[in-house]
Amino acid sequence: MVIAEAASILKRGGLVAFPTETVYGLGARGLHVDEVAKIFAAKGRPAGHPVILHVDGEAMARSYAATWSPTASRLANELWPGPLTLVVPRAANVPPEVSGGLDTVGIRAPRHPVALALIRAVGEPLAAPSANAHTHVSPTTAEHVVRSLGDRVDLVLDAGPCAFGIESTVVALAHDPPRVLRPGAVSLEQLRAIDPRISYELVSIEGDAARAAPGMAAKHYAPRTNVVLAERGGEGVAAALAAGGRAFTSVAAIVVTEGAERAAGGCAPLVVLPDAPDGYARGLFAALHTVDEAAVDLVVIEKVPNEPAWWAVADRLTRAARR
Ligand code: TXA
Ligand code: MG
Repeated sequence: MVIAEAASILKRGGLVAFPTETVYGLGARGLHVDEVAKIFAAKGRPAGHPVILHVDGEAMARSYAATWSPTASRLANELWPGPLTLVVPRAANVPPEVSGGLDTVGIRAPRHPVALALIRAVGEPLAAPSANAHTHVSPTTAEHVVRSLGDRVDLVLDAGPCAFGIESTVVALAHDPPRVLRPGAVSLEQLRAIDPRISYELVSIEGDAARAAPGMAAKHYAPRTNVVLAERGGEGVAAALAAGGRAFTSVAAIVVTEGAERAAGGCAPLVVLPDAPDGYARGLFAALHTVDEAAVDLVVIEKVPNEPAWWAVADRLTRAARR
């Protein structure tokens, strides 16, 4: 059985890419410093970035947290297994290298049955960042993983496209009140229904400060293609295409369903995404991969509404457009 084979590769110190409900993860045994180091080498990720420990539930999570607050319990009870990462005080049994030398550790119980089965078969937490080369677009299919990391991974488990298509929401619980460090697949509304004090600021941290939360680095999730964001609506897209076309020889557009017909500006959209946050998130990273394959010089992406339900998507778009 393929899960048993994957587990035995991990137990021998190898790397296995596996599906989660958010994006594909690049997994190694999370408490083994040498094995976690292989993840960093495969991604080309600088040391000092914390990785998430993937557990099979709250009980396993608690054994790697120095303290487990009532808020952590409530969030885990309501939203685990699921796309939520809790940053909690790190217990002494978690090597500091795993969390970038921080005194906290990010932990999540994924909902995907393959991810859960793998964690259970190994019997300990799996460290797993998104299975893409450092700063590149996260993978939402096994094919994306193979294209990005190829033979640097011992095995890629293929379970088709990811249900959410955007990474987990990361919440820092080590400080009070809790704070969202990375908007993601769990909405702010869902979090605030559990603890109304949870805060979120749409900020991007530059330089050294980004080390506290690498997902917050300004340039991240970036396709190789130049990205420009256009104002919403056909006119905005057409204007950005016209302006971009002066500097680049080939341009393409990603627009939302509603704007598709109006967006032309002399250029049929390369990708059309649903004008709803969940559907848009599910398709976004695949769209960015498509852009890179199309080998255009510039892609114009229509902005999304400035509303809380769209914040996770808006965050990824802003970072993709950073140079
Ligand atoms: O959905 C996901 O979270 C995916 C799947 C594979 O689980 N994983 C993922 O991992 O996105 P990665 O390494 O690409 O991003 C992990 C994010 C970092 O950007 C960082 O902000 C945050 O989690 N993080 C992890 N541990 C942390 C810690 N101790 N303190 C602050 N932030 C932490
Ligand atoms: Mg990542």
